[in-house]
Parts: sequence; structure tokens; C-alpha cells
Amino acid sequence: MNHDQIHIIGGAELHGEIPVQGAKNAALKIMAAALLSDEVCTIPNLPDIEDVRRMAELIAALGADIKTDSAGTHISGSGISSTVLPADLAGKLRASIMLAAPLLARFGEVTLPYPGGCNLGVRPIDLFLEGFTALGASVTEAEKGFSIQAPQGLIGASILLPKVSVMATESLMIAAVLAKGTTTIKNAAMEPEIPALAEYLIKNGAKIEGAGTSTIIIHGVSQIGASAFTLIPDRIEAGTFAILGLLTNSEITVTNIVPEHLESLWLHLRKAGATLDFTKNSVTTKRHHGLTSTNITTHEYPGFVTDLQAPYTALMTQATGMSLIHETIFAGRLFYTDLLASMGANVIMCDPHRVVIHGPTQLHGRFLTSPDIRAGIALILAGLAATGTTTIDNVYQIDRGYHDIVGRLQKLGANITRVSKDAL
Ligand code: UD1
Repeated sequence: MNHDQIHIIGGAELHGEIPVQGAKNAALKIMAAALLSDEVCTIPNLPDIEDVRRMAELIAALGADIKTDSAGTHISGSGISSTVLPADLAGKLRASIMLAAPLLARFGEVTLPYPGGCNLGVRPIDLFLEGFTALGASVTEAEKGFSIQAPQGLIGASILLPKVSVMATESLMIAAVLAKGTTTIKNAAMEPEIPALAEYLIKNGAKIEGAGTSTIIIHGVSQIGASAFTLIPDRIEAGTFAILGLLTNSEITVTNIVPEHLESLWLHLRKAGATLDFTKNSVTTKRHHGLTSTNITTHEYPGFVTDLQAPYTALMTQATGMSLIHETIFAGRLFYTDLLASMGANVIMCDPHRVVIHGPTQLHGRFLTSPDIRAGIALILAGLAATGTTTIDNVYQIDRGYHDIVGRLQKLGANITRVSKDAL
């Protein structure tokens, strides 16, 4: 874990192009799905970010093969020698829970410590455990986690998720691929990473219908293979950079995107008065004479994505009027607004799920500690729009999801540097 800081001098107008990387939230799932097979899965565009490194360490700790060369990262489940997820590694990454499904499906057992990751209120795993139980597994809780057993293999079932969950949907889909018979997942999440995962699985022999809709049907097969697979672009990076262009009133072009993955964001930005120019795989933010406040309510896809709530809130500090930001997906995902307030934003917290922002107010550089991955990137955005110097500590949270953010923003003309704490 590094202890660097990011220093920003705000106020620069940005220009140029910024390409988006392969999606973190797709990468972690394809890496897990690769363990379903002894064949080799090659991912040519795996982002070099901390969450992916933690996942790679977990995969290696299980005995599976993972190596990177100029063609990409190659993963094979052939050497798996353990079905116990090491607590020290898994505790650093909530998505470690994605490894439960392939291990359970192939080996009939997995031992799972309590997962870690973002500090976003309580993030339970009841939906995973109930889903695996519905597929015929038994779950025993031990002092430090869960032992999940299905010695006879998993059996297809009809599962209604009581709550829409991205990783529970993906885990049940992976688990059901090798189950006996047919599984139906109702009230499934519909995020673009889910049809992308289904595409990978289908390409390698799985039988899946309906991924990307709220009902997914999986007909179990006895084995599946692995092959090369290119990740979809990271829609969160895409949206964040588009918001950055508008926040700094700059014309920048965000490339390697799928515009259809962010329709709710574009709708809100246009309502706020933004002009956006699209090609098939890019968006350009046009300079403006001020934006108008708009409300957002985060929602499962295709609604407004919770991972863009913090960057959008930073934008609303510079829009004229009052915006209500309503976070419905996670508890604890609005507390970073205190940090925006310390920079000069006019923020009223109504309750832990709702804040009201009155804008515009001039932001001023401050010393800030990044509380989580998405709030962290929002603080960088705020720092780039502020007067004076912003210092951001706990940069690991940002490195979890954004590769070389400093170098990439420098290329747009941002006055941003990374300083090793050892050098301070
Ligand atoms: C994924 C994304 C994350 C995004 C989120 C919502 C990854 C690696 N992360 O997280 O970036 O913000 O989707 O789009 O893909 N819940 C339960 N019980 C469970 C599981 C979840 O109650 O067993 C709750 C959560 O606390 C939350 C809600 O369900 O309130 C939705 O969370 P979920 O969709 O599961 O998020 P993740 O898959 O963890």
C-alpha cells in the first residue's frame, strides 16, 4: 500500500483527449469467471489498478495461474489447490466475494472470510449466502467467516433476489453455469457489466438467456472453457471525466466509451444546460456560461449510477440554484460532502441519504483525506475547480480504481502532481 499524496493547484482550463480504460467492475468478474475452467482466459485490457492487483493476489493465493505479458493478463484455474480465501487479502477487497461462486461451482466448497472494500456503511452478503443456499449449498458461520459446502454439486433453482444487487446477480450467474438443471434469477441487476460477463461465459460454453434484463435464465452445463476477452470500457471513468470537463468549463474529449451505458448521466447533464457532442465512442464537453442545478436520485441501472453521485455533487457546487442529491443505494455514501463544505460548498445534510447543495460557491483548496474510491475522485475534481492548493491524502482509495490518474490529468493540462510522503 502506498502513502503518496496528490497536490492540485486548481483553476486551469483543460483541453485534449482522455481515453477510458477497461472497466474495473467488469475486470474483477471476468477474473473470477476465469477460475471456472482449466483453460486460459486472456484479458488484453486489464486496468493496472489496486483492486485488480488485490484480485490477482487472491487468485495466485488459491494456486491458480495468473501472469501478464505484452498480450495481456492470462488466468487459468488449472492449478487451484485451495478453496479457502485468505482473510488478510480478502479483507482488502469486497469483490473478493466474487471468487466464492467459481470455487463452489467447481469444487463443491469454499471458505469465505468476511469481505472488505469500501467503507460504505454496512455491506452485507446475505443475498449471496441465500442464493448459494437456494442452489443446494449449506452455509455454516464460523468465528471469522463462512464455510459453504455443496459436495454433490449445485442444483438449478428459481431465485428471486429480494434486492437488486450487481455482484449477487453475477455470482449466482457464475455459480449456476455448472449447476445441474436450470436456474432462473428474478429481479436481477441489469448493469452493462452483467451482459458482458454473460457474453464471456456464453462464448466459452455456458447457456445463458436474458442477461441485461431483470430475469436471467441459466441452463447448467457440465464444464466450460476459457478464451480471450476484451473488457467493456469503464463507464464510471467515462462519466467522471465528462463531469470534469464541465466542472472546469473545458472542452475535453473522453474516448473509448460506450455512450449508451450512461444515458441517465447525459440526461441530467443536458437538463443542467451542458452541451455534449457524441461520436459512436466518445463524448466532448463544450464550454458553457454556467450550469443550472438539477436533482439526482441514484438508482440501479439504467438509473443514475451511485458511483457517479460524488462527482456529480462536486459539479452541482458550481451550478446555479439548489440541487437535492438523494443516495438510495448505499448508506454512508454522502459523508464526504463535509469535505466539499470545508472547501466552501454550501451543503445541508437532510439525513444520511440526502443532501441539498446551493450553488454556485467558490471552492478553496484544502487538505483532504480521501474517504473512498468514488468520493476520492470527486475531491480531485473539486480541487481542480478550486482556487489555491488542494492536498489529497489516502490516495490508495483513488488508486483502487483509476490507473495513473495524475499522469492522465496532467496530459489534459491539469496542474496536479503526486508526491511520495517519504519525500515530504
Ligand atoms: C457493485 C459495484 C459498485 C457499485 C454497486 C452498485 C463492483 C465491484 N462494484 O457493488 O461499484 O456502486 O454495484 O451499482 O461491481 N446488498 C445487500 N445484501 C447483499 C449484497 C448487497 O443488502 O448480500 C445491498 C448493498 O448493501 C446495497 C445494495 O444491495 O445497498 C446494492 O449493492 P450491490 O449492487 O450488491 O453492490 P455491489 O455489487 O457490492
